[in-house]
Formats: sequence, structure tokens, C-alpha cells
Amino acid sequence: MLFADVSVLDEHFAVKPHQWVAVQGGVITYVGDSDPRGAMAAGCGAATAPAEGDSPVTPPLGAAPATADFGEVVDGAGRLLMPALYNTHAHSPMTLLRGYAENLPLDRWLNEKCFPFEAKMTGDDCYWGTLLACAEMARFGVVSFSDMYYHADRSAQAVLESGMKANLSGALVAFEDKPFSDYPEYAFMEQLGNEWNGAADGRIRVDYNLHSEYLTNETVARDIVALAKEKGLRMHIHLSETAKEVEECRGRHGGMSPVAYFEAIGLFEVPTTAAHCVWVDEADMDILAQRGVFVANNPASNLKLGIGFAPIPRMFEKGVNVCLGSDGMASNNNHNLFHDMYLQAMVYKGATLDPTAVTPQQALRAATRTGALSQGRDDCGLVREGMRADLCLLDVTGPSWCPATDMACNLVYAGHGSDVVMTLCDGQVLYAQGNFPTIDLERAKAECAARTKRILGEL
Ligand code: NI
Repeated sequence: MLFADVSVLDEHFAVKPHQWVAVQGGVITYVGDSDPRGAMAAGCGAATAPAEGDSPVTPPLGAAPATADFGEVVDGAGRLLMPALYNTHAHSPMTLLRGYAENLPLDRWLNEKCFPFEAKMTGDDCYWGTLLACAEMARFGVVSFSDMYYHADRSAQAVLESGMKANLSGALVAFEDKPFSDYPEYAFMEQLGNEWNGAADGRIRVDYNLHSEYLTNETVARDIVALAKEKGLRMHIHLSETAKEVEECRGRHGGMSPVAYFEAIGLFEVPTTAAHCVWVDEADMDILAQRGVFVANNPASNLKLGIGFAPIPRMFEKGVNVCLGSDGMASNNNHNLFHDMYLQAMVYKGATLDPTAVTPQQALRAATRTGALSQGRDDCGLVREGMRADLCLLDVTGPSWCPATDMACNLVYAGHGSDVVMTLCDGQVLYAQGNFPTIDLERAKAECAARTKRILGEL
């Protein structure tokens, strides 16, 4: 595919007009300000610029653009091409809970609503909930998500079929003081890893997870950290989401915060994505920065559940890897990550009384490149030669996009997820102009509606 004469969000998160971007074999093979077909005609070939910043990437195999067939040519007039978005904290089957547990205090939301509903969910329910989540994410330019939920093997099947990417982990509540290997989740995770880690050309990965400090005892937490280390897998946890969680952790662990506690048991020696980190102090943030922990910021979920405001501007100052997540659909209620990006770029200005807090470039990087890195996908998240072709194309002809004085600011402050007209994952089209080539959306919607109705009838 060749995007012809298109505006591009470049690797510095600035918008460059009149660019040509070629995608071949799932990889971006050319980015430049001239038509590579012209280079072919001139016989001079298309030079590959050396990569700047970030990690080096392996040059794509196969023919150079100058001698290659580009296939479909997409007219870039009135279009903006940007890296696809990476949703770094989700519970995708929870799409079935959308609109069900509303306007309740956190304890009642969880104990009276979410837990009883989830106890009725089958593997098939989780498959369909994930498939609908995939469709919704693809619609809004998201190609990959980090998930933590029951029946993760069924989510993996949905991800495989949808053409998306995901880092999947199971669900675990561990109060009994016995080794992790005595829990049924141990065998489940072994099987999930064996069957799915690296599946679909690496689109699907398996992470280990600890739900949180308050739902996992120390014996099990230490065992899981050791397993992740031994297998070279990543970790996904909820961390310091509420003030109550932090206070109770200090009571249980000799005054240590959840961050200090997990540092003490060695968690952050494993690459970790930590969701929320709302109630963290300076010492906590220093640990997160030093250990390279990826903080999945969930501004919509934190607002909706009345959790508070994560110190995101301070984390950026300290060099913490901040990325972006939707969280589950009982606390958001959508997978339109453009909403979350807008909130990340806006709410912390209000929370800190500082209008310079969180720049559009920081928010764009969090939603794209840092998200990809949090999933161990070093060759994703930038529009640059040699990177995987995870892209979304926006229609920028609507009224919100004029004038084009600063298109990166328009993108964050005025654009909408619904401006996305095409989403590609590894070069495969997942969404284009209302169509979902890999997902039967009507079937997925009907299945999810019927399944939610069944479960509500059982409650
Ligand atoms: Ni969560």
C-alpha cells in the first residue's frame, strides 16, 4: 500500500505535510517527501534514512521500494497518517458490562455489581466480549491492547481472528497462603504461555499478572515474579489505584506503600506495566522512574470511579514511562482511546492549576510509541522506515481541523476518534470507511447483547 501525498505525524510528534509512505510485507518501507515510484522511474532508488532516537530496528527484508510493487495507492489529500494507538490497560470481555454498573461508590460498584456479573461469565461470553472490544478499538485507531481477565485463552482466539495485537494475562485472586503452583491459575498460565505466547507472528503475547497488592498475598506474588523472570515474560498489575489501597498496604507491610512493597519483593526487576498509580508519592515515582516501569494512565476510569488524579505531569518530569489505557467498560465506558488521550492532555492541567502540564506531544507519545514499548513491541508505534505498519489514517477535512495552524494540537484537542477512516495492523486493514474486514460486527453485537441479557436474567 502507498499513501500518496499525505500529512504524517512524524517520530517527533509533529505533523509534516506532503509525505509519501509505503507499506510492504507488514512493514513501513519508505517515508519521504517524494513519490518513490518517481525514484523508480529515475532509477535512483529510495534511500533509507538512518534511524534517529529510540531503539534501532532491523531493516525490512525483501526488495527495496524502488523496485517494488506498492499495490493499492491511497490518496492522501485531506488525510493525516499517524501511528496506531496502543491501549495498555484493558479488561476486554468487560464490554458485556457496559452501562450496567453506573454511578456507584467503588466498593458497591465492585462487590455488588461487577463480581456477581463476572461470576456468571463463560469462556464464550469472554470470546464475544473481546471480539466486540477489538472492533471498537479498531474503529478508533487502536491496534493493540494489554489485557487482564478470566478465560484469556478465549480472548486470544478473538485477537487471532480479528488481526489485532494483544498482551494477554489471566485473572487471579490469591488469599490462601500456599505456593502459586498449588493454584489452578498456575496450570492455566503455563498452558496459555505455551499455546499463545508469540502466536500469530508475535501479534499475541502472554504476560504474567498480579491483580494488585490487595488481592494477592506475598507468597504468591513472589512466586509469580520468579516465574516471569525465569520465562522472560512481562508483568501487568494494578498499582496504587485508591487512597484506601495504599493505606491498607502500609498497615499490612510495615509502612510500605504498594510501590515500595513490590520493589522490595523484586517485581520491578521484570518489565512491568502498572495501571493507575494515582496515589503515589515522590519516593514511589523515583522507583517507577529508576526501574523503567510503564505507568498505564487511565484518566477516564479514574474520573468515572471518583478515584482522583494521578500525578502524571510530575511523572513526565521525573522521566517515568507514561502510557495510556481505557480500563474496563464498566468504568469508562468506551474503547475510543482518543477520548482518553484528550483527557490525559487536559485534566492534569486543571488538577495541578498549571496550563503547561502535559503537552500534546507527551500525550501523543503516551498513546502510541510508549504504549508499544510497554508491550515489548520495540518495532512499533512510530511512522518510520523499518517499523511495523501499525497505522491509522484520519479524515482531517471536517470543521474541527481548520485552520491547520498546528495540526498536532488539532489532533489532541480538536480531533475525534471518529475521524479515523482506516486502521492497519502489521499492514492488514482492520477497519476502513465503516467496514471491518476481519470481524462480523453485527454478529458480535448481537451475541454480546444476548449474552448480557442472559446474565442479567440469572442475577
Ligand atoms: Ni483495571
